[in-house]
Order: sequence, then structure tokens, then C-alpha cells
Amino acid sequence: MLDRLNRLEKEALSALGKASSQADLDNIRAKYLGRKGELADIMKSLGSLSPEKRPSVGSEANRIKQTLEKAYKKRLEYIKNQPKTAEQKETRKRIKPTDITLPGRKPFVGRRHVLRAMLDEIVEIFHGMGFSVAQGPDVDTAYNNFDALNTPPNHPSRDIGDTFYIAGFGPDDTDALLLRTHTSPVQIRVMKSQEPPVRIIAPGRCYRKDTIDATHYISFWQVEGLYVDHDVTIADLKGVLTAFAKELLGSETEIRFRPHFFPFTEPSVEYDFTCICGGKGCRICKGTGWIEISGAGMVDPEVFREVGYDPDIWRGYAFGMGVERIAMIRHGIDDIRHFYTNDLRFLEQF
Ligand code: PHE
Repeated sequence: MLDRLNRLEKEALSALGKASSQADLDNIRAKYLGRKGELADIMKSLGSLSPEKRPSVGSEANRIKQTLEKAYKKRLEYIKNQPKTAEQKETRKRIKPTDITLPGRKPFVGRRHVLRAMLDEIVEIFHGMGFSVAQGPDVDTAYNNFDALNTPPNHPSRDIGDTFYIAGFGPDDTDALLLRTHTSPVQIRVMKSQEPPVRIIAPGRCYRKDTIDATHYISFWQVEGLYVDHDVTIADLKGVLTAFAKELLGSETEIRFRPHFFPFTEPSVEYDFTCICGGKGCRICKGTGWIEISGAGMVDPEVFREVGYDPDIWRGYAFGMGVERIAMIRHGIDDIRHFYTNDLRFLEQF
């Protein structure tokens, strides 16, 4: 009888495993497990067995019943999950089974470029001090970039070897178009379009025909600042740059002015911030403890006259700053070219 049972189990399992529809399955179930099925038949004849054999055959029959019920359910589930339409079949073929034990793939998350993040931070600080943002085009006239800024026709910075000209060139060609060499032309544009007081910053890209090396690139970012009002002094300029430096690099940061010359400011200075090494001297400040940021000064009366502001009534200061420079100090970056090579190994650090 045990033999019969085992044969029945094998047969039923193989039949269930091949069933391709629910109707098939139900027939097979009826055949083996139904009231008039084979298993029931065997159960009925248990009575004819000796009392010693009865319990073992009985429990084997029960186990088989449970196994078959389970196999029935499993196959039913499988049949229900089969793709029905041709489209579903096609998709099923394409999708490989997912191995849920594999480690997950980290999604690639984009971020602001380190320079853009630096620029946003600079703008934010000046915004907090009441400056609004002005903008001008990258391609400007020689007039806005040089003449209106009191830069004489023969000034070396106007040379074709230093400035990218787009159209026209020459000492008297004030209409010549060029890639602006600094953001100072935005000063002219703003002052020509509005009456004082003025309190703006102008972030923007600038271009110069520099030889590329660790600290020079043919294009770079500046943030220009311009403040025009009554009674503005160089102390206000120093105050605002000091407040900015402390906010950006920490409250211990100091600032210093060194005398300099710009055609559009008088007096003019170059200004430095103490280095992030705390002034002790390091690789970034080349041991000096100071980092040169850019130039600044009091707006030259000639510039006021040019834009139609009365220099006897108005005073102003202006400053520039190099965004790459500041980002280099801030993050300890030693080569300006990193910003422009788009190497993810560099960019992902920030
Ligand atoms: N435009 C100057 C430069 O690019 C910087 C500057 C801005 C100096 C404003 C004075 C006033 O070097």
C-alpha cells in the first residue's frame, strides 16, 4: 500500500507541475484529492490493513495530501502570474529576474558646480548687507569696458594681445565689441540707467588673454561692488569688505589695503584677506599669511562726470573680487584649471 501511495504522489506532483490552466489543475486535484479520488480510495481501504500497519500508512497518506494541496496552490499562483497578452509576454522576456540580495546602486545626485556655489554664497552675504544684483552682457563695448572707466586710448590693457576683441579694434574705436575684461562696465551701465543712491553687486564672467597656468585662466568670475551715496568714505569700503571677509572665512579674518592704481578709482587699493592658515603662512598664501583678493577704491570723479552724476554731490566706492581666488582659499585648491576641466573626481569633492 505504501508503494501505491508513493507512486500516486509522484504522478500527482508531475501532473500538477505540468498543468497550464486552472481547469486542468482542478481536474487533477479532483482525480487525486477529490472525494472520489485516488487518495480517498486508499483511505477507505485502510480498514483492511493490520492494526500495526494502519497508523504509518494513514500518516503517510495525510502527508501526501498536504504536499499535493501545497503543490496545487503554488501552481495556481504561477498560472495566475503568467503574462496573458503578447505585449506582457514580450516585456517578461526582456526583464531579467531581479536579484534582491545584490547591494543597491547609489543614484547619481547632481549638485551645483563649486564655483556656482561660491558665487551664490558671496551674493547671499552682500544681499544681507543691502546690495542688489545687477548684470551686464559678456560682450560689451570698448566704451563701457575702458573709455567710460577713464582708461586712456593707449592703455596697455586695451591691447589686442590682452583683450579678446569681437568686432573692431583701435585706440579710438569706442564702439569696438569685446569680451569684457572685468565686471566694472556694469558700473557704467547701472549708473547710466539710474539716479543715485546706488548699492549693487554685479557677478559675471570676464575674459583676458592670459597665459594659462595654476593661477591664470582665459576666463574667470568676478563680483563687482558699487556704492554711491552722500558722504561715502574709504572707511565704509573697508568696513563692508571686512564684514564680508569675516562672514565668508570666519570672524578672525583680517583685511589689509595696499596702495595701487586703477584709472576708474582714486584713491585705489589692492586688498588682501588673511589666509585660512590664520596668518601663519602656508602653501596657499605662499608663506605670507595674506591672500590678494582684488582691487577697490573710491569712484573717480571722471567716471561720475561721464555717467552724469555730479561729483560735488555724490561719493562712491567700488570693488572687485575674483570668485575662483576666493574658492581656492576657501577649499584649499591649488590650481585654477581644476574648475574648468570638468573632472568628476574633482567636482564631487565639494
Ligand atoms: N576691475 C578691477 C580689476 O579687474 C578691479 C576693481 C574693481 C578695482 C572696482 C577697483 C574698483 O582688476
